[in-house]
This record gives sequence, structure tokens and C-alpha cells, in this order.
Amino acid sequence: MTSRRHLLTGAAAAGLGAAAGAGLVAAADGQAPAPAAAAASTTGTAIVPFHGPRQAGVAEDPPAHAAFVALTLPAGTDRRGLARMMRLLTDDAARLTQGVPALGDTDATLAPLPARLTVTFGFGPGLYRAAGLQPPVADLPKFRIDRLEQRWSGGDLLLQICADDPLTVAHTQRMLIKDARPFAAIRWVQQGFRRSPGVQAPEHTQRNVMGQLDGTANPRGAEIDPAVWNDDGSTTLVVRRMRAEIEKWDILSVADKENAVGRRLESGAPLSGTLEHDEPDFTKLDASGLPAMPDFSHVTRARVTDPTLKLLRRPYNYDGVPNAAGHPDAGLIFAAYQKDIARQFVPIQQRLADKDLLNEWITPIGSAVFAVPPGCAADGWIGEQALT
Ligand code: HEM
Repeated sequence: MTSRRHLLTGAAAAGLGAAAGAGLVAAADGQAPAPAAAAASTTGTAIVPFHGPRQAGVAEDPPAHAAFVALTLPAGTDRRGLARMMRLLTDDAARLTQGVPALGDTDATLAPLPARLTVTFGFGPGLYRAAGLQPPVADLPKFRIDRLEQRWSGGDLLLQICADDPLTVAHTQRMLIKDARPFAAIRWVQQGFRRSPGVQAPEHTQRNVMGQLDGTANPRGAEIDPAVWNDDGSTTLVVRRMRAEIEKWDILSVADKENAVGRRLESGAPLSGTLEHDEPDFTKLDASGLPAMPDFSHVTRARVTDPTLKLLRRPYNYDGVPNAAGHPDAGLIFAAYQKDIARQFVPIQQRLADKDLLNEWITPIGSAVFAVPPGCAADGWIGEQALT
């Protein structure tokens, strides 16, 4: 299937890429950057189609801003109520993602710049139980490293709202929550960010709040399908809030940071190679006869070679309010898509929990799992297969 990325309004997508590229070249040449107005207009009006066999917001390059909103269903919710809620929320998402105000939009002036807005719905185990169905996803086992807090964990319904503009995300979040309110309560909201469009060429790997290039070994293009999509267009999502022990990380030497990950900080190259996309060589020894890729580095422990067992990582940074003493509250909203959580996510998380040098500087404080139902046609709604 053609990826949604290619379905972006042709002109807008081409314009965005060209503007970003032009901006970068101009900066390197020391010339005047591309006119800001041109870049702004293509970023704001870019549209990701909503309807289709698979939900948007998974395989596209992640936009710069995201809100993950988890809701809890009240006792007594039944399948008919869920269907009513999902028809309404699907309609909102279908309109807003295309730059059209939601029905009853209280701020219709905020709808016309969708900026690659996607709304992706995830169903937690509790939603299926409320509908009298066997949940297709189960809560994760408890891991040794977990320090989970209720306020970041669980959820019956997830709204993943992503766009290249934070005002678009805020407006969409508010409209969806307004319409979900009669049916469900807010459980948690996590807001995150990545680099803004145009800041670097789109093909460059982004850095996270810990300064690491994050996403190098992610499946891309045709590699995404076997890892992520089930035949019916469904997938699954794990959201882990990972606190970065960032002030401890700050005082590490570059060499120690590189050993913990197994990659160079500057280039992202594996410690066994020279370029970012060199395949790590786990048999290579360094000058002192030790493995160039440390046995307990994050990459060594997380690596899988079977293309059907990979994760599609789609993390966002978070940077909350520092405490009174000025200590930061930062980390990753680690979102991972895969066909099957038990087969793909759990074994990797288990290996990392058992031994990963990076554990010293990252702590899971939230955790939630969701089935991501297939997309829908223009006359359908998300969840229709399960809830009718
Ligand atoms: C704050 C938390 C985390 C940070 C800062 C982090 C950072 C990184 C970095 C820098 C890389 C190397 C570059 C890349 O390929 O993206 C990486 C790779 C990877 N990480 Fe993480 N990670 C975190 C949590 C996790 C978690 C929770 C999982 C899964 C349970 C995970 C799974 C992976 C996988 C599968 C790879 C690719 C390994 C490979 O095949 O080379 N990471 N991570």
C-alpha cells in the first residue's frame, strides 16, 4: 500500500521538503535563508489523509508536537455507548485533520492550519471488556526497572494527536476531549515534542533530550509493514513514560555515554563502525581486546534482526516544570508500534530490564498498552469492526 506520507497533498509535501532542504543548503552556504513566509505556509496547510485501511499517525514521519490523551470509561459503559462515542470522535478527527472545523467547533478559526495533524485512536484492554469482548492486548508484565505511577499508566481509550504546530494540537485536544466528556473521564495527558519542521533536513535522525541521535535503526519504508501492520490494518501501541535522570547523565563523560548506548554521540555510528547507518558488528574487538559494542549497551541488548520482530519507535521528548530547586523533569514519551506486543515489545523490554547500561539514566514511570484498530472509509468510523 502506498504509505500515507506519499499521500500528503502533493504540493504541500513537496514544498515542505524543498523548503526544509533549501533552508539547510542556504545556511551551509552562508546565504540568506529561504523566505520564512513560504516555509510557514506549506507547513501549516500540509494535510495527512484521515480515511484509509490503516489509521494515520503511525507510519508517517512524526510531526513536531504530540499529545497523548488517555481516557477512562465509567462503570456501566456498553458497546452501544462506545459506538456512539467513536462515531462522534471519528467525525471530529476526520474533519480537523483535513483543516475543517469539528461540528460545534467552539474555535473554528483554529481549524484551517492542520499542519500534518493526525488523530490516532487506541483501545485499551478495558474498552474491550466494557464491550463484552476478549481484549486483543494485555497489560505488560512488571519489569524490575519499573517505577510506575498511576497518573501516567493505563487507559481505556487513547487519543494520539500529532501535528507540526502546538496550537493545532491544543485545539484538537480540546475539541476531542469536549466531545468525549459525556462518555469518559481523563486519566492522563502527556505532551511531547520533537524538532520543528525546517530545523534540519527531514531525512536526518533527530536528537532526544539526552542529546542522542534517536531513531537510527528504526524500520523505514518497506521495512515498516512486516513489523507493524496486521492484515486487517490494525496494529498495537505501547506508551512508556521514561524519565531521564538527566543531571546524572550530564556529568558522564562522552565515552561513558557512548558505551551505555553502543553508538557515538556525535555521529550516531555504532562503536564498531564509522557511519551512522553502518551495521553494528557485535563480533568486533577494540584495541584492548574487548567487544567494540559493549555486551550490555542499549543497542546490543535491544537489537533484533528478524524484520517481523522490530519495533517502530515514535518517541517524543517531554520537558516538564522544574522543581523549586531547579531540577529538571524531562524524558521520553516512548511510543512503540508493533504487530504484537507479547511477541515484539515484551522480549526487548525484558532484555533491557534485565541488563542495559542505560538503565542507570532512564526510569519507566508510566506504562499503557493499546490495540490500534484499522482505519475507516469516509462513511465508516474507527472501531466499527469490533463495536458493531
Ligand atoms: C528514555 C528511554 C530511551 C532512550 C533515551 C533510548 C535511546 C536509544 C538510542 C540512542 C538508540 C540508538 C539509536 C537508534 O537506533 O535509535 C536506541 C535504540 C533502540 N532502542 Fe532505545 N531508548 C530508550 C528506551 C527504549 C525502550 C523502552 C525500548 C523498548 C522496550 C527501546 C528499544 C530500542 C530499540 C529496539 C533500539 C534499536 C536497536 C537496534 O536494533 O540497533 N528503547 N534507543
